[in-house]
Amino acid sequence: MLLLLHKIPYFAGIRWMFPLTNRFITAMSSHLHARRSFLQTALVSSAALLTGQANAESHIAQPSPVRKRVLRIAHFTDVHVQPERGAADGMKACLRHIHAQADKPDLLLNGGDAIMDALEQNEQRTQLQWDIFFDTLKRENTTPVKHCIGNHDVWGWLQDKSGAKGNEPRYGKKWAVEVYGIPNRYYSFAQAGWHFIVLDSTQSRGNIGYEARLDSEQYEWLRGELASVKPTTPVLILSHIPILSMTSAFFLRKQDHNNDWTIQRNLMHADGLQLQQLFRKHPNVKVCLSGHTHLVDRLDYTGVTYFCNGAVSGAWWKGAWQECEPGYAMVNLYDDGSFEREYISYGWTPKE
Ligand SMILES: [Fe+2]
Repeated sequence: MLLLLHKIPYFAGIRWMFPLTNRFITAMSSHLHARRSFLQTALVSSAALLTGQANAESHIAQPSPVRKRVLRIAHFTDVHVQPERGAADGMKACLRHIHAQADKPDLLLNGGDAIMDALEQNEQRTQLQWDIFFDTLKRENTTPVKHCIGNHDVWGWLQDKSGAKGNEPRYGKKWAVEVYGIPNRYYSFAQAGWHFIVLDSTQSRGNIGYEARLDSEQYEWLRGELASVKPTTPVLILSHIPILSMTSAFFLRKQDHNNDWTIQRNLMHADGLQLQQLFRKHPNVKVCLSGHTHLVDRLDYTGVTYFCNGAVSGAWWKGAWQECEPGYAMVNLYDDGSFEREYISYGWTPKE
C-alpha cells in the first residue's frame, strides 16, 4: 500500500482524528463472526467489533484434535488513564470484568498507551498519570503482567510542549522502562511452551513526533531472537502499533481525492512488509497482537495472524471509537501453536 506522509500531525497522537466515511467498515463488518465460532485459515479475513458483544475467532491450518490449551491471556491495551472523564474508574471496571470471568486469564498483556499522554506533557502531569495507572493496577489486578511501550508512554519528545530538555534521566522511553519494570524497551520471555517477543514500535522523528518501525538495533535483535528459538516453539509477537492491519487504513475513515486508501507511518509499521518477510522464514511465528488504532480486526497473511485488539479507553474515554466499544481481548494459546481471540466489551458508559 502507498504510504502518504504528513497527513496528520504526528505529535498529535491519534486522539484528535475524526471519522468521515464508514462504507469500508460496513463492508468488512459482513465478516463478523458469532461468539465462539471457529475459522480455518483464510488468506485474508478482517473483522470489526460487534458493539457491546464479544467476538471470537480461532486459527490454525490443521488444529490438533487433542490440542491442549496452555495459556489464557487478557490483552488490554490503550488504557490512556488520566484524571479526567472517570478514566481510573473505567480502568478499574475493565480489570474487574477481566477478573470476574469464570475462565480467568493466566497472564495480562498491557499493550501500551497506559496513560493518556507523556509525549507532550510536563513531568508533573506525566507522573500523575503513571500514579493513577499503577495505583489502579495494584489495587485491582491479581494476574501477572507484562508491559509493552506505546507511543503515548514516551515522555517529553515534543519538547516545545513538554518542557523537557532531553537530558533528563527519565527522558523518552527510560521512564516507561523504569515504571513498567521491563528489562529493556524490547524484550522476550518464554511461558507455557510459547515464546513471547515484545517490540518497541515507536521511533522518534525529532520534535515533530514519531513513526512506527523497528530501529536497526532492534531489528537485528529480532532476527537473532527468531533464529535462536526452536522451530517447534510457537511465537507470539506483541507490539503497540500494528505490524499489519486494515484498521490503520480505516482509522481516519478518509480516502484521498482519487479514492486511494492510504496508511500513514504513525498508524502501521512502516517496515511491516520487511517484518512479514522475516516471519516467512520462521513458520513458528504464529500470531501478532497490537493496539494503537483503538479498532479491532484480524489479518491472516502468509501464515501469521495479526490481531488488532481495540482499546480499554474506546474513544479516549468518550465512548466507542467508530464501531469499537471500550474493551479488551482474551487470547487462548494451545500447545500445537493454534490460538483463539475474543474481543469483549466491558460495558463502560462515558462520563462527563
Ligand atoms: Fe492509544
